This record gives sequence, C-alpha cells and structure tokens, in this order.
Amino acid sequence: MTPFGHTPPPAAAAQGGDAAQARACAVEVHGLCHRYADGTAALRGLDCRIGAGEAVAVVGANGAGKSTFLLHLDGLLLATAGEVRVGDLPVRRDTRVQVQRRVGYVFQEADDQLFMATVEDDVAFGPLNLGLSPPAARERVHEALARVGALHLAARAPWRLSGGEKRLVAIAGVLAMAPQVLVLDEPSAGLDPAARRRLMALLQALPQTRIVATHDLDLALGVCNRVLVMHEGRIEADGAPAAVFRDAALLRRCHLEPPLAWQGRSGA
Ligand SMILES: Nc1ncnc2c1ncn2[C@@H]1O[C@H](COP(=O)(O)OP(=O)(O)OP(=O)(O)O)[C@@H](O)[C@H]1O
Ligand SMILES: [Mg+2]
Repeated sequence: MTPFGHTPPPAAAAQGGDAAQARACAVEVHGLCHRYADGTAALRGLDCRIGAGEAVAVVGANGAGKSTFLLHLDGLLLATAGEVRVGDLPVRRDTRVQVQRRVGYVFQEADDQLFMATVEDDVAFGPLNLGLSPPAARERVHEALARVGALHLAARAPWRLSGGEKRLVAIAGVLAMAPQVLVLDEPSAGLDPAARRRLMALLQALPQTRIVATHDLDLALGVCNRVLVMHEGRIEADGAPAAVFRDAALLRRCHLEPPLAWQGRSGA
C-alpha cells in the first residue's frame, strides 16, 4: 500500500446521494447553520451525507457559503446550530485534533498554509507531527511533491513561490499526511493548464473521500461523481454533475454557467 492508500477504492463510482447511502459514511451533516460574529448568516441549514471514497464537488457563486461549509469539516469553524460528523466522530472543539488527523484541508489561500523555511520542511511538517520517523516523513514528502509535479521546488522558500506553485505545495502538504478525507478549497485556481490537468488526474486517482469547492465546473464534471450546488447558504441541488449541470434553470438561479466543455454545444 502506498502512503496515500488509506481507504480502499470504491467498487464503482457512485451516482449521487442514493449510492452514497450504501457506503460507509465519511461525512454527515445535519441542519448545519453558521452565523459569523458580525451577524452574517453564511449557512442556513445544510444536510448531506458523503460516502467513503466519493469525490464531491461543491459549487456556487461567490459568497454562496462553500468555504464556510468546508471549514466546518475540519473543525476550523464550529456550527452555530446543527451537527457535523466525520465518520463516527462529531466535530466539536474537544474533538478537533482527532478530526484534523482524519481530514486534510487545503485552504483557498495557500499563504494560510505554508510557514516553514523550505518547501520540503513544510510538506514534512504534517507527517512528522503525526509521529512518522524523519526517513518515513522524507519518503512521503518526495512522493507527495512528485505527485503534484513540484519535486523541483523542494529546497525553495515557500513565500518566494508563485501563486500556482504555492498551491501545488499546499496540496502536497496535505497528501503527505494521507488523510481519510481530503477537503480542497479552489485547488485549481491559478494553476496553468498542464498543472490543472495533472491535479485533475491526481484527484481522480486518489482513493480517499474528496470534497472540492470549485468554480471550475469542468473539473467537477471530469473528477467528481457528485456535485452539491450551494446558493445563499443552502444546498440547492445534489446529484451527478452531468445531470445537475444540464438543468439550465438551476444554473441561472444559482448564478452559474455551464462547463466550458459544453459551451457552444447545442442542447448542452
Ligand atoms: N469572517 C467572516 N465574517 C463575516 N462574514 C463572512 C466571513 N467569511 C465569510 N463571510 C460571509 O459569509 C458568506 C459565505 O462566504 P464564503 O467565503 O463561505 O463563500 P464562498 O462560497 O466560499 O465564496 P467564494 O467563491 O468567493 O470563495 C458571504 O456572505 C461572506 O461575505
Ligand atoms: Mg470560498
């Protein structure tokens, strides 16, 4: 088993919520609400159940609540009302450390994540923190950097990298921890076409549960078996991407546009 092979791959790609019911549950959310300190009601009652090994896109316009939702999956924000479970573990202040061992989180802003002197040390931080020996951690660092195509950046200072390079390193840092659940907020933003393609292939190949907030509907279509459409703090639709993205009225209501691959196609 590779360091990335925590969870067995799913027997078949699920098609939306029904198939998810049949698998072990990776994430369960009931009546999740979040109100920020300034009174903004960012989440207004979310319910969903994500099965182990699913790849789920979370899409929606700016301000729809995607990042706020994802931050609850790692205990970085706590529910104002409702509950979130990761496997059998409720996400609470007192379980946050255990939750964060199960869930790897790639922030929307890579600068929020990188803080060590070199890329190699940065990616090694998580595995060392999990208790791996330095040689085992080094092996994970190299495998993770190679998987995102960033091995050549190992000796560089993270804060001197370009935006896209930082994002790749941040993704490697989370991969190196081999979490059961990967949560990525806008992982393809700022990547060049080749790096984006490599990321898509990588996300597709990973056996873990993957939850990806993205404005890249083509990525959602190419990588994910399921999409949650968020609108004004609620889940407006939940299903297989190809079916959901065909609903023109839904896309209009949620201020989304069809995947680029479909644009210009009649009947898309
Ligand atoms: N720290 C905060 N304090 C107050 N309001 C916030 C805070 N962070 C986000 N919000 C508000 O919560 C709502 C949801 O924001 P969120 O960042 O979750 O949206 P998003 O879907 O991730 O958007 P984007 O596509 O721009 O990343 C927005 O109305 C936003 O203005
Ligand atoms: Mg966001």
